[in-house]
Amino acid sequence: MNRPRVVTHAVASVDGRITLAPDVLLLYGDERWQAIAGSSDDVYERLKLTYKPQVFLEGSGSFVLSSTEPEPLPPVAGDPQSLYQDFLPDDVVHRPGHQGWFTAVDSRGRVRWFYKEFEGWEGWHLLVLVAHHTPPEYLAYLQRERIPYLVAGEKRVDLPAALEKLGSQLRVTCVVSTAGGKLNGALLRAGLIDEISIEFFPAVIGGPETPSLFDAPALKPDEWPTRLKLISAQIQAEGRVGLRYQVVSEHVS
Ligand SMILES: NC(=O)c1ccc[n+]([C@@H]2O[C@H](COP(=O)([O-])OP(=O)(O)OC[C@H]3O[C@@H](n4cnc5c(N)ncnc54)[C@H](OP(=O)(O)O)[C@@H]3O)[C@@H](O)[C@H]2O)c1
Repeated sequence: MNRPRVVTHAVASVDGRITLAPDVLLLYGDERWQAIAGSSDDVYERLKLTYKPQVFLEGSGSFVLSSTEPEPLPPVAGDPQSLYQDFLPDDVVHRPGHQGWFTAVDSRGRVRWFYKEFEGWEGWHLLVLVAHHTPPEYLAYLQRERIPYLVAGEKRVDLPAALEKLGSQLRVTCVVSTAGGKLNGALLRAGLIDEISIEFFPAVIGGPETPSLFDAPALKPDEWPTRLKLISAQIQAEGRVGLRYQVVSEHVS
C-alpha cells in the first residue's frame, strides 16, 4: 500500500466547534470568527514548513452549504463512460514550478470553481476527488476547465483508494487535511489519520448541529475511541493552545 501520511489540522473552540453555526462557511469570512479565532500568523505557511505536504485536502462542505443548489451544468452528449477515468492532463501535472495540489472531495459535483490556482500559492493547483456516481456533467465541466481529477469509489469517494492513487499516480507522500468535521471524521473512522493537530482558541461556541472537529458516526459497542499520543503542546499568544498528537493505531486494552 502506497498511502501517503495524513495529518489533520483544525482551528477550534475549546468545545471543539470549527465554525459558529451549521450555516456559517468560514471561507466567506465571518467577523465574529475572525475576532475570536483569527490567528496572527499564516497557518498554511506554518503547515507547509512543518509537514512539507504535497496535498492540502478539503471537503465540499468548506465551499458550499448542504442546502445550496449547485448551478446546473450542460448535459453530456454521447457515451459518458470515458469521463470515469482519472483526468490528469500532462500540461497541468507536469507544468513548470509544480509544488502541490489543493485537493477537494466532491463526489456529488457540487462545487463550481472560481480559481484553479490561488494567489500566494505559487505552484499549487486544484485537483478534485470524485467517484463513479459523480454526475457526468460535472466531470465534463472539470475537463473543460482543465481541472485534474481522480476517480475512486462507487457512490462516494473511497478515501483509502483515493489516497492510494495520490501516492501511486502523483507521488504524494504527505496530505494535510484542513477539512471540516465530516471529512476528517470519515478519515478517522477509516483509520487513515496519522497525526492530529489542533489549535484551540479560548471560546466556547456550543450548538449540537454546529460542525465540530470529528463529526464521525457514533461508536458501535465493539468500537473503541481512537487513542492519541502527545507530540507537543504549545501555549501561544492570547490564550491559544496548539496541540499535536500522533494517532496510536492499534487498540490495546
Ligand atoms: N475551523 C477550521 O479549522 C475549519 C476547517 C475547515 C472547515 N471549517 C468549517 O467547517 C464547516 C464544514 O464542515 P463539514 O463537516 O460540514 O464539511 P466537510 O468536512 O467538508 O464534509 C463534507 C465532505 O466530506 C465528504 N465525506 C463525508 N463523509 C465521507 C465518507 N464517509 N466518505 C467519503 N467522503 C465523505 C463529503 O463528500 P461528498 O460530498 O462527496 O459526499 C464532502 O466532500 C464549514 O462551516 C467550514 O467553514 C472549519
